[in-house]
Amino acid sequence: MQIFSANFAETKTTAGMANILRLIRSEMELVEEEFARQASSNVQVISYLGEYLRASGGKRVRPALLILANRAAGDESGSESVIKLATVMEMIHTATLVHDDIIDNAATRRNTVTVNAKFGNQAAVLMGDWLYMSAFETALEERSLEILDILIELTRRMTEGELIQLTMLGRTDISVEDYFNILRRKTAFLFSACCEIGAILADAEPEIRAELKEYGMNLGMAFQLADDVLDFTADKEVLGKASGADLLEGKLTLPLILLVSEDPSVAGLLEDVMRGGEYGAGVRERLLGMVDEAGTLEKTRNTALEYAHKAVKNLELLPETRYGLALSEVPSLMINRQS
Ligand code: IPE
Ligand code: IPE
Ligand code: MG
Ligand code: MG
Repeated sequence: MQIFSANFAETKTTAGMANILRLIRSEMELVEEEFARQASSNVQVISYLGEYLRASGGKRVRPALLILANRAAGDESGSESVIKLATVMEMIHTATLVHDDIIDNAATRRNTVTVNAKFGNQAAVLMGDWLYMSAFETALEERSLEILDILIELTRRMTEGELIQLTMLGRTDISVEDYFNILRRKTAFLFSACCEIGAILADAEPEIRAELKEYGMNLGMAFQLADDVLDFTADKEVLGKASGADLLEGKLTLPLILLVSEDPSVAGLLEDVMRGGEYGAGVRERLLGMVDEAGTLEKTRNTALEYAHKAVKNLELLPETRYGLALSEVPSLMINRQS
């Protein structure tokens, strides 16, 4: 399959994603219904928060990936298990976002006030926990130890990723290895699990399953690299969440890690911003100018592109179907997205 192009215009990106979602529209509608079911409870406050989160939207990339991988691996049945597990992945994602926003003290996500900002950290911790457990309860209904194993390991790794990141807050001497280790854990494992579970539910051959798992891993790395670039370049209104936030939160991402290694004298300025929790007058623009001029923003984009290319290569064993073709378009759409 060779339809990968590096430079999509924004309109094409939007149209491309819409086309892919159209391909699996009925499944995605069922995911919405299943989300509403999984996020409801006879405890009123849970249902209220669950609906608040569901209605805030999001791109629904993870359930879409599970469904596409499942179809691309040859499952024609559109079974209930696929919808349930696709929703489980979105529930786990939602739980990590709810907890991540407490950790990052974020006020806005998806252009909506975060649960922590609106209802307090206490409610947000508990709601995140509840979402994890509801997701695991649904997964347990499938009676698949293989899938449960993946979900549990994945959740543990995501938590480890956030914890490792926490131990590095405020530091300017993060290595590139440390950075990639965090990325892999906090984002790529979930993408990988979506694709692998899609393959498992399709009863795919081991080689196909392994390639889809690796596809998800590479795509997840590209996705988080793009998220980290967007934090520098995007408008918060378009992004739906704060931009320029990573440094304020004490997180050095690849463009700045590479900049510091090229020019260690920048470290002082970065430490000031992280310690103060705000950019002084003109500092944000200055930093953007520096990563631009040093080419480290471009290097980060190119690294995302490399992972995107690797992901597409992982699809070579798949039979040519509309779903496989859609999967091959996703990496470039994800690195060229605006939000
Ligand atoms: C945000 O994920 C967290 C990251 C891994 C960067 P998304 O960008 O998929 O968030 P939503 O679900 O679309 O809001
Ligand atoms: C991704 O990291 C976090 C999760 C995997 C939950 P970020 O902290 O960069 O995510 P955003 O930017 O808040 O969405
Ligand atoms: Mg965050
Ligand atoms: Mg981010």
